[in-house]
Amino acid sequence: MSASDHLIPVVVSNVVEVNPIIKRFEFKHVNGDELPAFSGGAHIVVEMLDDGTKRKNPYSLMSSPFERDQYAISVRRDDTGRGGSKFMHEQVRPGMQMKISAPVNLFSLDLRARKHLMIAGGIGITPFIAQMTQADKLGVPFELHYAARSVSQAAYMDSLADRFGDHVSCYCDDQGESVDLEVLLSNQPLGTHVYVCGPKGMIERVVETASSLGWPAAHVHFEHFLAPPVGEPFEVHLAKAGIDITVGAEQSLLEAVEASGTPINCMCRGGACGQCETVVVACDGDIMHNDHWLDEEQRAAKQRIMPCVSRFRGKRLELDL
Ligand code: FES
Repeated sequence: MSASDHLIPVVVSNVVEVNPIIKRFEFKHVNGDELPAFSGGAHIVVEMLDDGTKRKNPYSLMSSPFERDQYAISVRRDDTGRGGSKFMHEQVRPGMQMKISAPVNLFSLDLRARKHLMIAGGIGITPFIAQMTQADKLGVPFELHYAARSVSQAAYMDSLADRFGDHVSCYCDDQGESVDLEVLLSNQPLGTHVYVCGPKGMIERVVETASSLGWPAAHVHFEHFLAPPVGEPFEVHLAKAGIDITVGAEQSLLEAVEASGTPINCMCRGGACGQCETVVVACDGDIMHNDHWLDEEQRAAKQRIMPCVSRFRGKRLELDL
C-alpha cells in the first residue's frame, strides 16, 4: 500500500504559463474541502489518464504549507520523456478533474538546523518555494542560491527576490554568473544544513564540496527524482501473482505492475526512496537499474530491482510480486 493508492479528486483551478517551458498548475479539492497538510519539500503524485495509459508522475508542492485550500506545482516540459509533462502542458486545462496522491515528504527541512542553506538549479526551485515560505514564517534563518541556464528559463526568480529580499541570490549561466560553492559552503555558521535540488551534476558538486570541507553527511540533503526512462518494451513474469505482463515503451515497470492489479509499494516513483525495491527471482539478461538506491554490488548481483525507474533487456525477468 502506498500514498498513491489513496487518491484525492481535485479540479484544476488555474494553469499559468510561467515561461516557454514551465507551467504552473493549481488544484482544489472537488468538494471544496481542505487538502491534507504538508511541510516544505513535500511532493504529490499526479495521475494522468493519457489516451488509455495511466501515468503517475511526482511533482514538488510549491504552494504555502500554511494554506490548504489549494496546491500548486510547476511542470517543466520535456519532449524527449514519456509524455507526462507533455500531457500536462497540452491537455490539462482549468476546470478539468484529476486525481492526486496525498503529499509525502522525502526532502523536509531538518528542524534541528541553526540555518537552512538552499541551493536550486532550474525546475529544482519548486520544493524550496514551499520551504522558504515555511522557514520565513517560522523565523528560521535561511538563504537560497538559485541558478538557471538563462534569464528566459529562470522561473520565479523575480518574484522570489521580491518576496524574500536578501535571502535570495540568483545566477544565470547566460550572464556568466555562477555560485562559488567552496566560498559559500566555507562561510556558513556551525549547525547549518544544506539542501540541494536540481540537475545531477549540481547535486554531485554540492555533496562533494560539502564532504571535502568536512560537513557532516547528516547536514547535507538532496532531492533528485528521476523520470522513468523510455525504452524498448519488455516482458516480466510476476511469480506470486502467476502472471506475465508487458511493459510498454513509454510505461515504467511500476506502472505496468500497477495496471495488472498486483500490489506493490512505492512512494517517490523516482528511484530515490527505496520503497519499491523488489526481489528478482530469475534474470536472464540485463537490468538497466537507473535508480539512486541500490549500490554497485547489488546492481551487479541482479537480485534486486527498483521497478519505478528500471528497465530490462533480455530473455527472462521474473519478480517476487
Ligand atoms: S518508489 Fe521510490 S525508489 Fe521506487
